[in-house]
Amino acid sequence: EKGTYPHFMLKEIDEQPFVMRKIIQEYQDENDNIKLDSDIRQAMLDTDRVYIIAAGTSYHAGLVGKQFIEKIANVPVEVHIASEFSYNMPLLSEKPLFVFISQSGETADSRSVLVRIKELGHPALTITNVPGSTLSREANYTLHLHAGPEIAVASTKAYTAQIAVLAILAVDTAKAKGLDLDFDPLKELGIAASVMESLTDQKEVFEEIAKEYFTETRNAFYIGRGMDYFVVQEASLKLKEISYIQAEGFAGGELKHGTIALIESGTPVIALSTQESVNYSIRGNVQEVAARGAKTCIISIEGLEQESDTFVLPHVHELLTSLVSVVPMQLLAYYAALHRDCDVDKPRNLAKSVTVE
Ligand code: F6R
Repeated sequence: EKGTYPHFMLKEIDEQPFVMRKIIQEYQDENDNIKLDSDIRQAMLDTDRVYIIAAGTSYHAGLVGKQFIEKIANVPVEVHIASEFSYNMPLLSEKPLFVFISQSGETADSRSVLVRIKELGHPALTITNVPGSTLSREANYTLHLHAGPEIAVASTKAYTAQIAVLAILAVDTAKAKGLDLDFDPLKELGIAASVMESLTDQKEVFEEIAKEYFTETRNAFYIGRGMDYFVVQEASLKLKEISYIQAEGFAGGELKHGTIALIESGTPVIALSTQESVNYSIRGNVQEVAARGAKTCIISIEGLEQESDTFVLPHVHELLTSLVSVVPMQLLAYYAALHRDCDVDKPRNLAKSVTVE
């Protein structure tokens, strides 16, 4: 039930800090180490390449997960859109491990890939919010998201839960491989949870930004680089699916290769900058669009901020910035939809779980 909340989406955005803490609890043993099914650990050790298969928001979480598994665990990863994979199957490595990311566990596009790869005899791990679901039952292994039921069509807490579980999986693999690590995911997730809470406590700030940037506009651009590029893709999906504003998330460096032609006077451009290595270059991209009349908004993070930034996120570990930077993006989409009188929880033409291919 939504209780005092006007919409499930807002309730689910607010639940994210609790979901992080639940995940920490569920994936922690009595010595504060990671607790994970040893068969899954072995599957991660045995594989020479992980193939992440997912759709929509879960695909966006997969893009972040690839960074974790490659950077932390040193295992190569490919991320594929489920509906594309079957028709355009890449050359597989010798010992592939398929990782299906799905909130519902019922997405038909993902299931058809699972059926295919099982015929080929490859192992599969499903990361899902619904352990008894089709993708969970039919895979060899399951990791549970522990996010609680997600009712709003627009996925929010499942996305952050997926990212958290993928970080834990990556670190568990790294430890099993004996790699040297100075990243304690359970501790850092706890910090991220507190930051998420401080953000959901400042809803009026994001409501004001949404009013200012999204009340009138027909379109909007989100830009980011590196990790932030993955988050802005999710940010634009959130905005378009519930507010019907045409939005796209672009890699900052790609603008000059075409997209910048779309910038007109007043076009909203929301830039995200949470990664030190790209802080300078994304700000250059913001200047390029501002010079062409765009109405720019920069969301940055403590340590990288500049005076003119619209909002500065509190500090979290650089690997986990997506967990906190997505929260303002979810709230911007929510308030944009609200102020445009859209049906936030049940946007037109969409179903919560897509059981047709
Ligand atoms: C977007 C959204 C969809 C789903 C996609 C995959 O807010 O909810 O893009 O993420 O349909 O669904 P699952 O994760 O259930 O496989």
